[in-house]
Amino acid sequence: MKKLTREGIEELVPYPPGKPIEELERELGISGSIKLASNENPLGPSPLAVEAILQKVKTLNRYPDGSGYYLKSKLSEKYGLPQEQIIIGNGSNELIELAVRTFLCPGEEAVQAFPTFLVYEKMVRGAGGRMISVPLSGFKIDLKAISQAITPDTKIVFINNPNNPTGSILSRDEMRLFLRGIPRDVIVVLDEAYIEFVSDETAARGLELLGDHPLLFVLRTFSKLYGLAGLRIGYGFASKELIDYMNRVRQPFNANTLAQAAATAALEDTEFASRTLRLIREGLGYLYKSLEEMGLEYVPTNTNFFLIKVPGSGKEIYKRMLRQGVIVRSMDSYDLPEYIRINAGLKEENERFIGALKKVLVDLK
Ligand SMILES: Cc1ncc(COP(=O)(O)O)c(C=O)c1O
Repeated sequence: MKKLTREGIEELVPYPPGKPIEELERELGISGSIKLASNENPLGPSPLAVEAILQKVKTLNRYPDGSGYYLKSKLSEKYGLPQEQIIIGNGSNELIELAVRTFLCPGEEAVQAFPTFLVYEKMVRGAGGRMISVPLSGFKIDLKAISQAITPDTKIVFINNPNNPTGSILSRDEMRLFLRGIPRDVIVVLDEAYIEFVSDETAARGLELLGDHPLLFVLRTFSKLYGLAGLRIGYGFASKELIDYMNRVRQPFNANTLAQAAATAALEDTEFASRTLRLIREGLGYLYKSLEEMGLEYVPTNTNFFLIKVPGSGKEIYKRMLRQGVIVRSMDSYDLPEYIRINAGLKEENERFIGALKKVLVDLK
């Protein structure tokens, strides 16, 4: 008998998504729950994006523009890169998978920091590759150790900046040094899903680093700052050569009509973007202060989410918070069992979170 699956598939576990609000409410028969578990935008989608979707709905009998022309033009204008260096995806998740499918041969290695975004390893192992994980150093990606983990079998290195789940950033100088030192035949996927939340001017930004390594692939998303997670739309920058190869492999209509229209409009929505950044900054300030008053440790972040060290186990706190109608993320699958991760929400959501956590901690004693 032939083996049913490809090598390595049996050992994989499904990605643990944040629990949907509807599911929790159905299970517990409650209403008015809140979710701070998936680093989403608490303000909803960009209003300009919603308007663009409504305009486009009547064209849904037609296939999408497979070249993503208007969205790529807008991105090209905004970032000063030719369209041939831009690719659009069904979320940046799809582009992670596309890079793996295009470049990684079965048996080849990829390198990542750990803990980091779980999807890199899932895609690599699902494609028959091997993932080498390099521990973080003090919650930060250790670029020196990553360089040392690269072998002649390494094909792709994944760097998440800022890193999910720790919220740490790498500086421009550190990344430049790293990129200049690694073999010219290793692809670097620099995932910048949360880069728009970073205010630190010294932080690495992929767009400025394209000249430092010929095989750099920079990923961005509309899921976070622009509030379009449910629509699935992301994009990437790389050399014309890398983009050309990935375009040969990608599905012709990978980004749907509504997503393309919404994303194009969202890029104009600077008012919404600023409002989001302000809300996150204020929310983090309140959350940090409240946690300090409660004597809890947390990991300061550069993004819209952060880690909190909790008494007992993160999983137990997660379960007890669910019963309070508050969805947080337990960090077991990230090998951080004493932590939970939350994103900053609306003011009332942050207050509700702190109130529920206080109650859960008292009940735990
Ligand atoms: C680090 C990181 N990269 C990529 C993504 C996926 O983004 P998208 O919604 O564009 O697929 C996420 C989503 O949580 C993320 O945390």
